[in-house]
Amino acid sequence: MLDLCLSNCKIVPENITRYIGVDGGKIVSIKRTPISAGKNIDISGNIILPGLIDAHVHMRDPGFTYKEDFRTGTEAAAVGGFTTVLDMPNTKPPTNTVRTFKEKINIAKDKCIVDFGLHAGADDPTEIKELAKLKPASFKIFMDLYDDDYLMDLFCEISKIPEINGSKPIVSLHAEDKEIVERCTKKFKENLNPIIYANARPPYAEEVAVSKAIIMANKYDLNVHICHTSTGKSLNMINSAKKNGINITSEITPHHLFLDPSYLDMFGSFAKTNPPLRNMSDKVNLIDLCKADIIGTDHAPHTIEEKKDNIWNAPPGIPGLETALSLIMTGVNRGKISFGDVRRLLCENPAKIFNLKNKGFIKYGMDADFVVVDMKKRDVIKPENFHSKAHYSPFEGKKVRGLPIMTILRGEVVMYDGTVFEANGKYVYN
Ligand code: DOR
Ligand code: ZN
Ligand code: ZN
Repeated sequence: MLDLCLSNCKIVPENITRYIGVDGGKIVSIKRTPISAGKNIDISGNIILPGLIDAHVHMRDPGFTYKEDFRTGTEAAAVGGFTTVLDMPNTKPPTNTVRTFKEKINIAKDKCIVDFGLHAGADDPTEIKELAKLKPASFKIFMDLYDDDYLMDLFCEISKIPEINGSKPIVSLHAEDKEIVERCTKKFKENLNPIIYANARPPYAEEVAVSKAIIMANKYDLNVHICHTSTGKSLNMINSAKKNGINITSEITPHHLFLDPSYLDMFGSFAKTNPPLRNMSDKVNLIDLCKADIIGTDHAPHTIEEKKDNIWNAPPGIPGLETALSLIMTGVNRGKISFGDVRRLLCENPAKIFNLKNKGFIKYGMDADFVVVDMKKRDVIKPENFHSKAHYSPFEGKKVRGLPIMTILRGEVVMYDGTVFEANGKYVYN
């Protein structure tokens, strides 16, 4: 007899009802009729999706655990329907050496309640080759921190890494041009009106960085992933490069999708993020979703005290794990987003791009990771209820309809109706 049967699961976008059999944490059968199992969970005709994958989170652990840690961050993930998270390297110490990478795996193993992988920092060229053997999800480079010559050196170094299990390394980029950002910031820095922040890091700072990324991807034959693509133009540039045979992918965040600089007016530094929120005429829009490869939240928690500071001193970043799916499902309920895009952008493509072999699909042999969504359930976003340590959000007060009600990790329920249960998150690249 199997461990578990999930009954009456509505699978979208196919719109079919199935019984899913789970054994040893894996999907072992998908049938039209009931399956006998030790345990049955009736999904009652609710929507079931593969557990969501967030390829872009900042868990702040180690070094900044007063902002977030692997425990609270993955609780937030479970509440939001995410069963796999890929953590960014800008911690203290940064995850840019073999030693700190191994240390972070050990910290995360003890605390995570969903599965995790780690991006590696690429800013120590002497470590890149050895780091690659530990299978980082990607090498992350903040283009806003380095000049072109140094960026070229890093790209060149990464291009020398031999393929691992048939795949070339991926370079994830924070694509904003350092020189433009510095010049524009200087120009506006005297002005304390939060809305001015959008001008300090203008769309062309991103678009110039994206064009440089395309040139370097071509020159060094690398796989490049552009994090938080915030403008429609950047997205179009990425897609034309793809048509020309360049291995490049795009990511959109919910905040760049749903918000604009008027939220800087309303929420001040709490809406500050890099790249900044964009004007209606520049920003990525719902109709652009079909052109994007993935949605990543860029969950970037800070403390309320830090975020209360003025627009220039406050750190950039918005927590996103607990709001992403309900905002997106609200879009689905309004007929603006398709279930097919949700599954592609939050499950299938993140698994394909970041080589998560057992994740992202409801198929025989895959990990039994699921999120169940009640499309009728309503809520109002209340940051004081977040499991994340970051109890703020520029989405505060937004009405949402379509909520994650259950998250299942390798056959175990890790979240039900907002309550989180104990689970052992595993490193996904073993
Ligand atoms: O808004 C941001 N916050 N953008 C980044 O690139 C970094 C991130 C953070 O780590 O807080
Ligand atoms: Zn970034
Ligand atoms: Zn980030």
